[in-house]
Amino acid sequence: MKVTAIGTGYVGLVTGACLAEMGNHVVCLDVNPEKIRVLNGGEIPIHEPGLLEVVRRNVAAGRLQFTTDVDMAVQHGTLLFIGVGTPPDEDGSADLQYVVAAARSIGQRMTDYKVIVDKSTVPVGTADKVRAAIKEELVKRGLGDMAYAVVSNPEFLKEGAAVEDFMKPDRIIVGSDDEQATLLMRALYAPFNRTQDRMLVMDVRSAEFTKYAANAMLATRISFMNELALLAEKVGADIELVRRGIGSDPRIGYQFLYAGAGYGGSCFPKDVKALVKAAADNEIPLKVLTAVEEANERQKRVLVDKVVARFGGDLKGRRFAIWGLAFKPNTDDMREAPSLVIIDELTKLGATVAAYDPVSMSETARVLGPRDDVALVDRAEAALQGADALLIVTEWKEFRTPDFDAIKAALKAPVVFDGRNLYDPRLMKTLGIEYNGIGRG
Ligand code: NAI
Repeated sequence: MKVTAIGTGYVGLVTGACLAEMGNHVVCLDVNPEKIRVLNGGEIPIHEPGLLEVVRRNVAAGRLQFTTDVDMAVQHGTLLFIGVGTPPDEDGSADLQYVVAAARSIGQRMTDYKVIVDKSTVPVGTADKVRAAIKEELVKRGLGDMAYAVVSNPEFLKEGAAVEDFMKPDRIIVGSDDEQATLLMRALYAPFNRTQDRMLVMDVRSAEFTKYAANAMLATRISFMNELALLAEKVGADIELVRRGIGSDPRIGYQFLYAGAGYGGSCFPKDVKALVKAAADNEIPLKVLTAVEEANERQKRVLVDKVVARFGGDLKGRRFAIWGLAFKPNTDDMREAPSLVIIDELTKLGATVAAYDPVSMSETARVLGPRDDVALVDRAEAALQGADALLIVTEWKEFRTPDFDAIKAALKAPVVFDGRNLYDPRLMKTLGIEYNGIGRG
């Protein structure tokens, strides 16, 4: 089938590449010429395991191409996926300007039946806005009767495992009220659905809502565990043991029960905010979710609170090593990363920071800009030299079993603040390391 992916970010690029992998002819469009230049140069602009290989294979096979040419891209696809950003507006609601601009650019050019697929995470009612924007443009061109469909197909991939998630989805949600569009979506996703039909077709609004509900539920689990961790510390319980104790109940399950340094990323913070705002606009205040967000804001500062409790509120002359900057492992995405809050707070208190991340060093440098108080180093060990303590912020595999003797030798005193509970407090004690985890009373 002929597919166009509009927006070549984490979602659009993965969608385009994986659909090409199944034999579709895919054009990926972006307004950012630099991204298209990188892609046409045989590289990818993000770190995503396995993606480069899929991209290169399909470009070589002639099934995948990248362009800034809107005319060509709109003409190409029968199915046009909109995968552009939906960042938070000032009031927390989702900013739909990029989605609507993409819709308009379709309406300004289409000459035959198209299925426009909202892949971005968008509030309930967005498909109507997309439909209306296209209609307006068609009417301007005197083509008001031209048939087209707008369907919702929210994406559930996880950065760091995006290709795997796209190729083997748990579910494929399609919100559609157009029979022809539903059949085309079924055909497109059939290869991802071979062993079991994972496609759930529903009305458009329920599909749009499903994505927010999923992210809200996951964020809730994290904030819930983070709050329990704060209490566990006070009452002398270990949240890691509690996690295992409750996760064994199938009604609860083990996933997403980790206490830590708060959630970040391009999805949970903005989607929680957008749902809270949408609910307030509809006079149904979401009390639980509001608290989830507040708890997360507090949690992003927990490691710094621990540092202050240990070293005092004046950190002038102190230096801290930070391991892990990306908002989670296996990605270079720094959007809303807790590490940024931690760096900000520590340096405001007068400290300097030496930070290391296996893949997000250049992205961090771009986000932070030039800073005298932050050294970005290219090896984990280099961050440790002469630091007052080590803070672990992202649970990269390479931090899981480090050389503890080397850590002790390099730090001024052996103090570790483990924001991801990677180490066993009993082992740390026997090694003579002063260990501060999350919720490990
Ligand atoms: P991103 O910011 O990485 O990529 C968006 C891309 O769209 C950018 O390259 C931008 O230049 C391009 N763009 C903007 N306007 C355009 C236009 N009119 N025409 C062509 N290209 C345009 O965003 P990301 O992370 O891929 O997210 C996209 C959407 O998918 C968001 O709504 C997000 O919430 C959702 N989502 C993201 C997931 C993730 O893990 N990143 C997972 C599931 C959903």
